Amino acid sequence: MDSIDAVQAALSRQNYVCGRALATVTFLALRLGRPLFLEGEAGTGKTEIAKAIAAALGRRLIRLQCYEGLDAASAVYEWNFAAQMVAIRKAEATGETPPDLFSDEFLIARPLLEAMRPQEGGAPVLLIDEIDRTDAPFEAFLLEALSDFQVTIPETGTVTAPEPPIVVLTSNRTREVHDALKRRCLYHWVDYPTHDREMEILAARAPEAAEDLSREVVAFVQKLRTEDLFKKPGVAETIDWAKCLLALDMIELSPEVISDTLGALLKYQDDIQKLQGSEAKRILDEVRAEVA
Ligand SMILES: Nc1ncnc2c1ncn2[C@@H]1O[C@H](COP(=O)(O)OP(=O)(O)O)[C@@H](O)[C@H]1O
Ligand SMILES: [Mg+2]
Repeated sequence: MDSIDAVQAALSRQNYVCGRALATVTFLALRLGRPLFLEGEAGTGKTEIAKAIAAALGRRLIRLQCYEGLDAASAVYEWNFAAQMVAIRKAEATGETPPDLFSDEFLIARPLLEAMRPQEGGAPVLLIDEIDRTDAPFEAFLLEALSDFQVTIPETGTVTAPEPPIVVLTSNRTREVHDALKRRCLYHWVDYPTHDREMEILAARAPEAAEDLSREVVAFVQKLRTEDLFKKPGVAETIDWAKCLLALDMIELSPEVISDTLGALLKYQDDIQKLQGSEAKRILDEVRAEVA
């Protein structure tokens, strides 16, 4: 991936539609060896691009899914207590001296440790997904791990990556991630796609959908995103909805079918209620008027 165009082409071969700005920041992150920080609404393709980069480069993808309460220790390693217990019991039963219980044999590597280990085929892609779900202490820990690409296990020592992993961090921005962490990274805001780009994505991800249906689906979803909703539909929802309509053998939208399939697009009852009945018809009429 030695140019912006090459990045776009390589990701496109993975069925990932990448705009110029995102391709540029991806190219730079790879070239400069800097972590890529992607922030944006849910379902806009942040997680997917890390998968596409790994597949395009033929590298292993290691994913650290963040959650509330994730602490440094469980992101790096854990001791296999069960195996340690078995080893102790066995030693007791046979009268032999037990093995070293805090050695690699009893170590379970979690994503961060795994990413620092040498991998066949080159440095892996480390996806640190939904970092906004963790807390400030974890961020501080990550900052350190990402500046020297090493992690320390008190009992066995420090593991340093032979070659820095390709790091992609994502955030759905449920809270602001600290400046210090962002400053280490190249930042990009992943917005909802434009109409044309969403058509391309749909063609890549749901190629079985006819162009006419896709056009209506995309136009409807784009319109829906301008409405006052608690949670706007992402690209993932557009794809799901198109697939639902296909499964129902629909060739065009109607207010009835929209009402019946809203659950693929909207995930909050208040939003669904708002759209049921005349609202769906109003939006559909507007969409049709614009297309015509
Ligand atoms: N630019 C894109 N090209 C191809 N597929 C996309 C793109 N953006 C989103 N998608 C689709 O939407 C789905 C959800 O995207 P995902 O990366 O999980 O969103 P999030 O931003 O929440 O991490 C993906 O599985 C993929 O099918
Ligand atoms: Mg995601």
